[in-house]
Formats: sequence, C-alpha cells, structure tokens
Amino acid sequence: MFTNPLLDGLQFAKEPVPFIITIFGATGDLTRRKLIPALFSLFLKGNISQFKIVGFARRTWTGDNFREEAHQMIAGGSFASVPEAQKKAFLEKLDYVSSTFDDPEGYKRLAQLVKGWEGRLFYLSTPPDEYEDIIKNLGAQNLNQSVPGYSRIIVEKPFGRDLASAKELNEILASVFDENQIYRIDHYLGKETVQNILVLRFGNGIFEPLWNNRYIDHIQITVAESLGVGTRGNYYEKSGAIRDMVQNHIFQLMTLLTMEPPNDLSPDTIRTEKVKVLKSLRPITFKDVKTYTVRGQYGPGIVQGQSVKGYLEEDGVNPNSRTETFVALKIFLDTWRWEGVPIFIRTGKSLGRRVSEVAVSFKEPPLHIFNNRGSDTKNNTLVIHIQPEEGVTFNINAKIPGYTTQVRPVSMDFAYGNAFGESTPEAYERLLLDALVGDSTLYTRRDEIETSWAFITRILQGWAEDPAPLPQYRAGSSGPEEAKALLSSVNQKWRKL
Ligand code: BG6
Repeated sequence: MFTNPLLDGLQFAKEPVPFIITIFGATGDLTRRKLIPALFSLFLKGNISQFKIVGFARRTWTGDNFREEAHQMIAGGSFASVPEAQKKAFLEKLDYVSSTFDDPEGYKRLAQLVKGWEGRLFYLSTPPDEYEDIIKNLGAQNLNQSVPGYSRIIVEKPFGRDLASAKELNEILASVFDENQIYRIDHYLGKETVQNILVLRFGNGIFEPLWNNRYIDHIQITVAESLGVGTRGNYYEKSGAIRDMVQNHIFQLMTLLTMEPPNDLSPDTIRTEKVKVLKSLRPITFKDVKTYTVRGQYGPGIVQGQSVKGYLEEDGVNPNSRTETFVALKIFLDTWRWEGVPIFIRTGKSLGRRVSEVAVSFKEPPLHIFNNRGSDTKNNTLVIHIQPEEGVTFNINAKIPGYTTQVRPVSMDFAYGNAFGESTPEAYERLLLDALVGDSTLYTRRDEIETSWAFITRILQGWAEDPAPLPQYRAGSSGPEEAKALLSSVNQKWRKL
C-alpha cells in the first residue's frame, strides 16, 4: 500500500496487478533516458514485480538486441552499483516486436504476447504522426479492452500542435478508448515540487487568505534552460517554445498555483478546478500579441564557459527559421480572485542558467516608514523552487543589525534535501505507477488540453500575422531585451536568472 498525497484519505491502494507495458517507439530517446530507468527503479524499490515490457518499433532488433540496449540504459549513474543479478532479473522481463506502426501483423504478434496479462498499458512514445495508426491498430486487435483487468494508453507530448490537431487526436483516441483509459502525460506533474504547490497552498492556513488580488502584486513563472535544442532541431522546428513548454508544463504550474480549493482530492475534482482556471484566461488576440507576448531566438554565445552555436546553425534547423526558442507572456485570469494580477511567464533555451521556479510577489506595505537612506526593501516574495533547487523560499525585509533602522531583504528557506534527507523520485516513476494503478490525477483531461490549446492557438495565429523580425538574444544571456518591457506596467523586473 502506497499513499498518494493528493489522494490521502481515499486510501488508494497502489499495488499494480500483473501487467504488460508496450512501449511504441522503444528505440527512441525517451525510452533510453526516462522510461526504462523509471521502470527499473520501480522494480528495484519493489513497487512492481510481476510484469513484462515489450518494445515495439521499426528497427529490426530482436529481443536480445533490446535487452542489450536496455542493459546500457541501466548501466551507469545511480544504477552503477546495482548487482548484475538484479539487472539480469529485470532484463529477462523485456521483449521486442519489430514492426512498422501501420502493419496489422505486428499487432497480431503483440496480441499474442499480451494474452493472459490482466493489466495492459500502451505507451505512445513515437513521433505523433504515428499515433493514429497505432491507436486504430490496437482497436482492431481488441487490445483496447481486457477482462478481467484493464487496458490503458499513455500518450506522450506533443499532444497536437494547435486546437484543431489536438481535437482531432482526442477524437481518434475516443474512437477506440474511453476517456478513463486515456492518460495524457505531462511529466511536470510528476515532479515532487510541482505537487507540493497544492500542499503548500491548501495544507497550510497562512497562505490561502492572502492568495488573491488584494495581497498579491504579480506572479512570475520561469522555466529557463541552459541547453540549446541539441539533436532535437527537427522536432523543435515544428514546435517552438510556446508549444514545447507553455501549453503544457507551464500551464500546469500556473493552474495549480491559481486554482480554487478543490472540495476533495479525487482526480476529476482537481482537474475540473484546473479547467476553470484555463477557461478564465483572458484571450490574447492577434491585435494584442505585441503587447502581451515577446518571442526570441538564441544566437551564438557562451553558456557556462562554453561557446555554443546559435539556433539557426543547429542541426535540423532551417537557416531562415522563425521558430521561437524563447517566449515571455503577460497573462490575466478573469476571476474574482485574480482580476488585475498579471502573471508573467518566460521560458527559453540556451539561457544563462537552468532554473524553474514560481515567484509570488506580494504587495508592498501601505506606508513605507522604513524606506530611509541605505535601505533596500523588496516586495515579500514566496518562491517555489522546482529545479534544480527543490524547495521554498520566503523573502522578507529585516533590520540590518546596528544603531540605525536600515532594512534589507533576507530569506527564509526550506530545502527538500535538508528537510527530508532523501532524493525525490523521478517524475516518470511516479507517473507510470499512477497509470498502473488507475490514478489519473496527475494526467491531463481532454477538456484541459483543448482549453489550453484554444488560448495558445490564438497567440500562434497572431504571430503568424506579424512579419517583424524575431528578437535575438545571446546564448547564455537572460533572453531578449524586449522581454523587460512586459514588466514595466507593474514597475518590476524579471527575477535574476
Ligand atoms: C520537454 C521538452 O517536454 O521538457 C524539452 O520537450 C524540455 O524541450 C524538457 O527540455 C524539460 O524538462 P525538464 O524536466 O528537464 O525540465
């Protein structure tokens, strides 16, 4: 029995029934970096024991090839000291189907392997163009059902590239699977610090009374990455920062931060509250994009002491590309709680530092009696550190020791490592386990995804009409200069990266 902090009280049992997981696109990067390590980690911790993992991909591998590759995936890092016998016991559970994604024969072979397993999980980790073939073929082989037991499908991002394509994908899924079998993954929801947003807000009495437009001045959400697009130029060209990070990961942070208190912690109650937030987003139409959004693209520069290429020189990138590698937005929620509170969002590649955080900035005291010479007061700010630091900091103003009343900001810190002394589990471990036990709280519902796409698609349409050159920023900097102007309305600056 495990407990899900969001489901405590419902006594949710987290003992997966014996299951078979099929990974479509098993030769890809996600399988190597995340899925196999996460499954191995769950195995080592004893969370899963009776299972089989089937890789399904085009490459003409055998089961042995897949096991050899998987062996490499669990060789180093935190697994380096795990005894070979345990690795062997895990690798024995792996099998492989070599097939194109549109060939019914491949699915017939898969159906043979799946036979007799109560739990059936299908993981779509291919390029999205393959999703339709996979979903329809699973349906054709009746792999969308399992009695007794379950059949579930996890769908990786990108989930569509605009509202129309997201709706289309939802329709295809709905033609084969019921909504309660569909798990749209957003790995940000598997991060411990992201889940802590709800606990911080609703598990403490102190914050919620202040969590509104009477006391909060503005909010900044930053997801900055120091790496460029690397080998993913091809994918990124079709995506850009707003599709890659804002529509999904950042909107998840934003909704958890701003939603109303849920009446209970069931998956649908929580997701309904999140959808309400998305529905309250004030639309940014094509005439407003210049006022509320800033795009940018990185040029060459120096990141952490290393010279790096500009985006246009990256592999797989069109030398005339207008794909944005940085985006900043100023958004508003039209609700009683949030009316008038700007939420600033920024994300980008090849920035000076990797940092993800949410900063809630409170209003200043009504009278500035301490703003004398030599004082440097700041708005009280509650910062939720998501990565790489994990924790919460509260910035307050304090008296500098001495005979005068000078004031400067100091911080009260909670760091996960210090408080709990253990490392937080990988997001994919948590999310896979949830899908195995049928807990969809941390997965995205259909209306959630479509509502966020509706908002983003308007911005994309506005950008498409705007021929102005894309602002450039130096790799290793904090983004384009133009982004600064977004905050001038509240007389504030972006937090230092
Ligand atoms: C992925 C994006 O969804 O999230 C990547 O496609 C991005 O471009 C990644 O780098 C960031 O994830 P994390 O967990 O490293 O913050």
